[in-house]
Amino acid sequence: MPNLNFVGKSKVVNHHRDVSFRFLERQYGLSENMIIHGDNLLALRSLLATHRGKIKCIYIDPPYNTGNENWIYNDNVNDPEIRSWIGKVVGDEETDLNRHDKWLCMMYPRLRLLHELLSDDGAIFISIDDNEVANLKLICNEIFGINNFIVMFTWRRRSGANDALNNVSLDHEYVVCYSKSKKFSMNGVTKNFEKYSNPDNDPRGAWVRGDLTCGKTADQRPNLFYPITDPKTGITYQCNPDHVWRFERNRMQQLIETGKVLFPADGNGRPAYKRHQAEVRSETKPFSSIIETKLNSAATRELRDIFGKQVFDYPKTVDLIRQIVYQSTDPDSIVLDAFAGSGTTAQSVIELNREDHGNRKFILIELMDYCESITAERVRRINGDFSFYELGDPIFIEDEINPDLSRDLFRRYLYFSETKKEIPPMNPDEPTLLGINDGIGYHLIDGDLNFNSLAQIKTRSNSYVIYAESCTISQETRDQFKIIFRKIPRDVRRI
Ligand SMILES: C[S@@+](CC[C@H](N)C(=O)[O-])C[C@H]1O[C@@H](n2cnc3c(N)ncnc32)[C@H](O)[C@@H]1O
Repeated sequence: MPNLNFVGKSKVVNHHRDVSFRFLERQYGLSENMIIHGDNLLALRSLLATHRGKIKCIYIDPPYNTGNENWIYNDNVNDPEIRSWIGKVVGDEETDLNRHDKWLCMMYPRLRLLHELLSDDGAIFISIDDNEVANLKLICNEIFGINNFIVMFTWRRRSGANDALNNVSLDHEYVVCYSKSKKFSMNGVTKNFEKYSNPDNDPRGAWVRGDLTCGKTADQRPNLFYPITDPKTGITYQCNPDHVWRFERNRMQQLIETGKVLFPADGNGRPAYKRHQAEVRSETKPFSSIIETKLNSAATRELRDIFGKQVFDYPKTVDLIRQIVYQSTDPDSIVLDAFAGSGTTAQSVIELNREDHGNRKFILIELMDYCESITAERVRRINGDFSFYELGDPIFIEDEINPDLSRDLFRRYLYFSETKKEIPPMNPDEPTLLGINDGIGYHLIDGDLNFNSLAQIKTRSNSYVIYAESCTISQETRDQFKIIFRKIPRDVRRI
């Protein structure tokens, strides 16, 4: 399989593993819907602890790298070549020869994390345009697997423009879609049966007038080229040599005898096919790779209607994301958008739930401070519920435990790394106890684990996991009292 090489690739392919876990610190709200303010690299890394393999639909709309967006590559990659880019606005084709490398270095570790968050039956949808679509596909082939490529959707973003380079008006965009595995399928579009009716009380049910011919010519299909006769009137209808009948002679005769061919009552016109609803094999049809949706100008209006003024450039339409979410989720799925912008994805999920009484949840991540004033405010204004989070301090810095970590945060992390649960409030009578989970007591002891420090443990549990800097109790005694010793910092797990 062809691989894409770019400056900095070797430094970023596993960069997501170097990123430290941090707690997502809830600021307000009790909802399961989450809006997280911060860099998505850090937020996604932290979400792994609780949401690995649980996200059914990921929609992202990253910077397209047009040269006009003023996005900044800011990842903490310790490589001289990359460090020289960090914190600088990514420029255009003429001034910034590394702009595609920078974009790929930004996207690669984030896509790796998104891949790990996706459920086995889930899919990722990435909005993009011609600037990076080819590069994006190549890195997605590497990360998601070439066999999990589903489709590159197109949709019309504007009706046409005069600013056409080379006299081509670029009016479309893409949504690149990859699944996690072969278990994914779109839900499909519900067929519209409104046109079916039963004016003649046909016991076979509702029907519509269908075409009795097909697109083949008499030369191509001579067996479908023959005259048919209405048994009631005796009128014969010649076959059109450019559009022969759909059925061969014997089948056509059966259809005529069972009243499934509609002949014109007065002999004028052409016979038609009486197509019953019951014949339609499935109630859904496939979702088209050309998404019919509103133009970008409608998205700007939608947002202006909510805020009363223009607050965000280039949002997507609710309809586009709602179609994607509808196609790829069940009513109780989790939807993730790691480049949330104005929060269109939240509105799409909320509106879809209102329509089909679903219980989908959303997780949105937005870097900029407008995460509160626009992203969250939009959800508030449409009466949606959510909890708002900020990123906590890193637990690790490079390979060491963060030296500035407070004791409380360290205790909380140890308990969380063992149980994936929040630590219960501390009992002042037993400060070593972090908590008890599934009959195991988790403790943190200052200094050495010995018989004196062991005496501080008051609460009985079936077994004990004890963190300390050293241990002078023999393995035999530890086994006897069902004690597992975890040495700090060696055994502090990176989650
Ligand atoms: C094109 S906009 C998304 C628009 C969105 N789909 C909407 O309808 O409003 C991309 C967003 O991603 C955000 N972003 C860029 N880099 C980010 C990062 N590293 N972490 C989180 N958000 C980021 C930008 O601040 C911007 O708001």
